[in-house]
Amino acid sequence: MNESADSSDRVLPRHIAVVMDGNGRWANKRHLPRAAGHKAGVGSTRKIVENCVTRNIEALTIFAFSSENWNRPASEVSSLMSLFVSTITSEVRKLHKKDVCVKFIGDRSRFSAKLQNSINESEDLTKDNTGLHFNIAANYGGRWDVVNACKSLFDDLTKNHGVIQDIDEKIFNSYMSLSEVPAPDLFIRTGGEQRISNFLMWQLAYSELYFIDTLWPDFSDDDFDRALDWFVSRQRRFGKTGQQVLDEQSA
Ligand code: IPE
Ligand code: IPE
Ligand code: MG
Repeated sequence: MNESADSSDRVLPRHIAVVMDGNGRWANKRHLPRAAGHKAGVGSTRKIVENCVTRNIEALTIFAFSSENWNRPASEVSSLMSLFVSTITSEVRKLHKKDVCVKFIGDRSRFSAKLQNSINESEDLTKDNTGLHFNIAANYGGRWDVVNACKSLFDDLTKNHGVIQDIDEKIFNSYMSLSEVPAPDLFIRTGGEQRISNFLMWQLAYSELYFIDTLWPDFSDDDFDRALDWFVSRQRRFGKTGQQVLDEQSA
């Protein structure tokens, strides 16, 4: 079986991608600094990772910091960077014990040496783990990903004297971030906005998109279960008719 299945044999997503939005508004509502919202959001991230591990989900990709988030006030950016270092340091051993394989996607060259070290160490420690693929998008942008793939592909073509006619979607995909896991089946965005915000544009081409108003720090186990229930109720047609899909299922 390709998909993950839970005890009731429902076909669960193999890969879930999450835009964890609403930390700032969560803090504003409580008259707290925005940084307090980001800190509170870490608890929700811990929970969703645990839920994915328990349900044998193959991959979870979270949007932690977009290439556009540098446009925020310097104080917020710097509090987010400190939070990344402290969270990676405090969580990575626990993730390792759960057999989670941690990977960062995005352009890490703009991060401090300290943060780059934490990132590299966490990837190195967990690289042979065979459980959940936990991907953290940091200084990531979907457009950056496409341009980056084009550059590497062009470089390889030139070196190997390849021709443009050899390129197809499968080859192109192998140059994109997350090529080692299936494309996300389910995309979840909290915080009420219904947009992609330059997350995984190529990889989300056929994902089921789920938007909820709940702010990320309030995202609960029940919210996650409801997202899975909603996913299970979708008919994924991939261009076919609904009847064709039903016929295939009963065959
Ligand atoms: C998402 O929450 C976290 C990051 C972008 C790092 P926001 O900080 O965007 O929260 P809102 O949208 O302002 O409430
Ligand atoms: C997207 O959230 C980025 C992350 C969750 C890390 P934003 O809050 O930055 O998105 P926009 O700018 O409102 O679309
Ligand atoms: Mg936001």
